[in-house]
Amino acid sequence: MAARGSSDIDRVEGGPVRIRVLERDDSARAWIEERWGGSIMVVHGRRFDLRDLPGLVAEDDGAVVGALTYELRGHEAEVVSVDAGPPGRGTGWALVAQFLEEARRRGVRVVRTTTTNDNLTALGFWQALGFRLVALRPGAVAAARRVKPSIPLVGDRGVPVPDELDLALTLDG
Ligand SMILES: CC(C)(COP(=O)(O)OP(=O)(O)OC[C@H]1O[C@@H](n2cnc3c(N)ncnc32)[C@H](O)[C@@H]1OP(=O)(O)O)[C@@H](O)C(=O)NCCC(=O)NCCS
Repeated sequence: MAARGSSDIDRVEGGPVRIRVLERDDSARAWIEERWGGSIMVVHGRRFDLRDLPGLVAEDDGAVVGALTYELRGHEAEVVSVDAGPPGRGTGWALVAQFLEEARRRGVRVVRTTTTNDNLTALGFWQALGFRLVALRPGAVAAARRVKPSIPLVGDRGVPVPDELDLALTLDG
């Protein structure tokens, strides 16, 4: 699992948000599944079951306000999902910052994540955190939709969603 224990992150506007480890049978998993329309996520040709992934949860006064799931693969890690709501309060940033701290402790050198072409918020978010765009996979979402037909055809602001974009952050030793 990820970070042991928990911490209070006071960058979040509107009071400190508590970041804690997402446990296997965590009630926060239902919150994550609601955000993604189920537990299955299909990205870059892989099928992830969010129920099996380790992660972090952000809570405000006991209520879930965000969550991050990831996979560790030796010196690489992938953030599979990150969600925060209400948006723009610093919760997403707090989750990723906590995750990066843990990833560094575990000797991770590169953190990867994937988003879709319509998700300009995520593209801004990841780049503000220092991630760089490293790949574009035209048509990858169309292929993923064959495995998970509920992936929306149209995303933010009515933009069609056919493509995936990868971002990566190299961690300093
Ligand atoms: C992406 C998401 C996790 C961001 O979480 P958040 O709590 O709203 O983000 P934060 O408030 O921590 O923002 C951190 C930084 O990201 C950048 N950012 C956030 N929203 C942005 C937007 N809409 N456009 C551009 N940059 C943005 C800003 O630089 C911000 O720093 P600042 O507030 O100091 O300017 C959230 O919007 C979300 O849950 N989106 C839906 C799920 C999703 O798309 N997840 C990502 C793909 S897996």
